[in-house]
Amino acid sequence: MMPLKNTATRWGIISQLLHWLMAILIVAMAWLGLTMGDLPNGPDKIATYALHKSLGLSLLALVVLRLLWRLLAGAPAHVAGTPPWQVRVAAATHFMLYVLLFALPLTGWLLNSAAGFPLQWFGLINLPALAGHDEALHTLATSAHEWLFWLLAALVLAHAGAALFHHLIQGDATLARMLPRGWLRTPTKPTQENPDV
Ligand code: HEM
Ligand code: HEM
Repeated sequence: MMPLKNTATRWGIISQLLHWLMAILIVAMAWLGLTMGDLPNGPDKIATYALHKSLGLSLLALVVLRLLWRLLAGAPAHVAGTPPWQVRVAAATHFMLYVLLFALPLTGWLLNSAAGFPLQWFGLINLPALAGHDEALHTLATSAHEWLFWLLAALVLAHAGAALFHHLIQGDATLARMLPRGWLRTPTKPTQENPDV
């Protein structure tokens, strides 16, 4: 049975689902965000912007749940033998990823408010404006949204590269333990510290 909670050696199913669902949504959001501006004006363009906003708001809700779950369920210990500097770099990267997972939807919401547009979640829920109509704020929040996105993209690339490095070069369980048991074979034998990978 896959544990619901995180154990000392593995991420549980809830953390795994939240991690990969959010990763997929962020790739979709990047693609929507980077292409929607070039669409010809019309109902399709409006629907694409609305989808970007609704999915972005969903990500904001998901990161709140994820952070609460993280505080409740904790995290597995780092893989045995990891040098302390790598533990620190990983912790700093994960912290920054969490910050950006909040900052992106919030700057999106802010720029939308400052532009004077209403905001709905999939046409079902009306959300309040975070600020009144303000062109200077609109410009500022739009640049912040764009720059924070590129920072997120760079960090995600480094993060995914590190995960692949652990798996392919170091041969440890870092990536395997973020996936259901048995999906990835860990090249090294399970150690005493990682008996259940
Ligand atoms: C994790 C969540 C989000 C990601 C990854 C994301 C990503 C992006 C990206 C890559 C762009 C294109 C930037 C560029 O032109 O270079 C963009 C633009 C935009 N985003 Fe988001 N976004 C997110 C959430 C939101 C939310 C929640 C809203 C609104 C409620 C929003 C509203 C907008 C708008 C209106 C634009 C067009 C800005 C303009 O060029 O005038 N975004 N977003
Ligand atoms: C938009 C994409 C992604 C985001 C925002 C993201 C975010 C995060 C965050 C915040 C954590 C820390 C979890 C915590 O401590 O609560 C994490 C862990 C992890 N991520 Fe990602 N991730 C993304 C994509 C990926 C990809 C593509 C891979 C693999 C190729 C990956 C592999 C991992 C692994 C293996 C861990 C666990 C690290 C450990 O056990 O110390 N992630 N991710």
